Amino acid sequence: MRLIDTYGRVHRDLRVSITDRCNLRCTYCMPPDFSAWLPGDHLLSVDEMLTVISIAVENGIRSIRLTGGEPLVRPDVVDIVTRINALPEPPRITLTTNGLRLVELAGPLAAAGLERVNISLDTLDPERFSRLTFRDRFVEVIAGIEAAQRAGLHPVKVNTVLMRGINDDEAVPLLRHAIAHGWSLRFIEQMPLDPHGSWERSEMVTAAEIHEVLGQHFTLTPLPGRGSAPAEEFTVDGGPATVGIIASVSEPFCAACDRLRLTADGQLRNCLFARDETDVRATLRDGSLSPDQRREAIAALFATSVLAKLPGHGINDPSFIRPDRPMSAIGG
Ligand code: 5AD
Ligand code: SF4
Repeated sequence: MRLIDTYGRVHRDLRVSITDRCNLRCTYCMPPDFSAWLPGDHLLSVDEMLTVISIAVENGIRSIRLTGGEPLVRPDVVDIVTRINALPEPPRITLTTNGLRLVELAGPLAAAGLERVNISLDTLDPERFSRLTFRDRFVEVIAGIEAAQRAGLHPVKVNTVLMRGINDDEAVPLLRHAIAHGWSLRFIEQMPLDPHGSWERSEMVTAAEIHEVLGQHFTLTPLPGRGSAPAEEFTVDGGPATVGIIASVSEPFCAACDRLRLTADGQLRNCLFARDETDVRATLRDGSLSPDQRREAIAALFATSVLAKLPGHGINDPSFIRPDRPMSAIGG
């Protein structure tokens, strides 16, 4: 079976949130005093996760991205990577992290079969970092990026969300720093997933603006072959350095989307912005099913979720309604 939706999109990428917990409190993601964590018994065990992932792989998923919350706060993250990599036809495994625990974990994760990491970093200024994340841990992120490079998790991608009046003066310094240190930098437009509901389209720093500002200091040349990748990639000053700009809002790439999401509490989502979820956890825990029946039922849930996928996220429609869950519970 292939996971093909009613618009002909073939799904090959599954983003698996392995925890909703995090050791930062980025302002655009979580309130500083967040406490509505998922109940522990709702989180999938590694066995349950592997059941779902192996069924996804049997149905054409070729790439697994582990996300959170912060995936590296889950104590069994290395075991999760090892076990995904031991599947009969192992998918590519990547991970999106804030970098804080990479100093200890980059080596073990690479050895377990992790291919790459995306690390989130919105500023080069330690004090600004503390204000943006409510934690004074900038130095650990930089050390984490270096550890990922040493562990061979190349190219190390660094994701930046620019916010007007907050860090939008850092586009050029961030790119200079990234080039000097061998990071592959990508700017992501801020999406309406912030906890306060204060996102305003007119306030968003757009891909076009970022392109213009960078263009004043660098020569950007579009790289062909984007495929289903969200980032439009450019070479910088003739290469080999590149920069990515992800125009999730202003130029949605939904038409080429090949992604599905599994939340840490076992709900399948066909879009970051989906209003509906498909409950896989209940089937995983339904004691009346034999293992084969369970696998069949879960494969059917994947098919149902994919068939219900809408053509796009609709952020630009007047009737757009934000998802009920915070970004930390959906997975980035
Ligand atoms: N818009 C865009 N990106 C976001 N992230 C978190 N919240 C948002 C948002 N509202 C990013 C983080 C990280 C990844 C998990 O998603 O910066 O890179
Ligand atoms: Fe944590 Fe990532 Fe959310 Fe920041 S964006 S609070 S690092 S989950």
